[in-house]
Amino acid sequence: MRETARKAHGEPLAAAECLPGLGEKLLSWFEQNKRVLPFRTDPTPYHVWVSEIMLQQTRVSAALPYYERFIRTLPDVPALAACPPEQLNKLWEGLGYYSRVRNMQKAAKVVCEEYGGALPADYEALLALPGIGEYTAGAIGSISFGLRVPAVDGNVLRVFARLYDDEGYITDPKVKQEFTRRVMAHQPPGAPGDYNQALMELGALVCLPGGEPLCGECPLAALCRGRASGRARELPRKAPPKARRVQPVTVFLLRSPEGWLLQRRPAEGLLAGLYQPFALEGQRLESAGEAAAALARLGLEGASLPQPLPAAKHLFSHIEWQMTGWKAELPAQRAPEGCLWADEEALRQQYALPGAFKAYKKRMGI
Ligand code: ADE
Repeated sequence: MRETARKAHGEPLAAAECLPGLGEKLLSWFEQNKRVLPFRTDPTPYHVWVSEIMLQQTRVSAALPYYERFIRTLPDVPALAACPPEQLNKLWEGLGYYSRVRNMQKAAKVVCEEYGGALPADYEALLALPGIGEYTAGAIGSISFGLRVPAVDGNVLRVFARLYDDEGYITDPKVKQEFTRRVMAHQPPGAPGDYNQALMELGALVCLPGGEPLCGECPLAALCRGRASGRARELPRKAPPKARRVQPVTVFLLRSPEGWLLQRRPAEGLLAGLYQPFALEGQRLESAGEAAAALARLGLEGASLPQPLPAAKHLFSHIEWQMTGWKAELPAQRAPEGCLWADEEALRQQYALPGAFKAYKKRMGI
């Protein structure tokens, strides 16, 4: 078992760490207050897997329509394994972090080959699958298989930072390990899945982020040391984020009678394999003349004088794109190497364009 989960098991709490009745109070609150969600109504391992991957990046209310469509289109692991990559990207369009769905498909193929298409009821075996980390393995293991394992996400870390009035940086793996040990010490043996979900639900509905805990509604208020000290709203603490590398990007919206020019991104790296409006990374073209010269270098002929588009910014976890844009009309012609012309129907149905281009997608009518 991995370090965090192994350490989490079987170590009783020191007297000073006891919060008597936490598990029971939490479970009875959950029973009364839990949201009715499709992956809760029918918590198969596949449903929980898909929902937890989506919910790592998106709020429940925003993720639900994506979840419903995904499960309708790809109802089980073999269907996910067999889905054409373009269609898979399209199902994920708007959720971001496309590598997550690519890893899900890799894992689905392994599950088909090694486990006959059913996710294994074993924490270690789940962890060994591509894209399944401790949190996801813990969620599937506890919710779908009733395994006594932790599922500690940002919500749970916030709840425990406040409960224990603990100022440790939750971004520090040692602190997370310590919190996980406490989470497990309170886990009722008969209800690991409900307990894990109840903690997440409490974080999502009551112990809100951004200094706004609704302590008046909290079933654990009487136990909460952060509330008692008055520091709850300042917790949890996180290490300051690393500065992002700034990269200039010039985006071209180029339209011919056959549609918009799309370019396929390299198979590896940032936004791997996705389509985008033609773009030059690492370059900021400031004048129409420079933009026209770039089009000529690409072999595109007969372009109108490029018109400037508003600047835009997109934050990735480690990079900041500072985009400038140009728009031009062109006569019908062959697309340059690695590019294609996509009409509106193809843009809507076939190609997933990353959210990084949101400001420019609007101008393409999508
Ligand atoms: N956030 C992520 N997963 C969740 C779950 N299973 N229940 C509530 N909130 C969540």
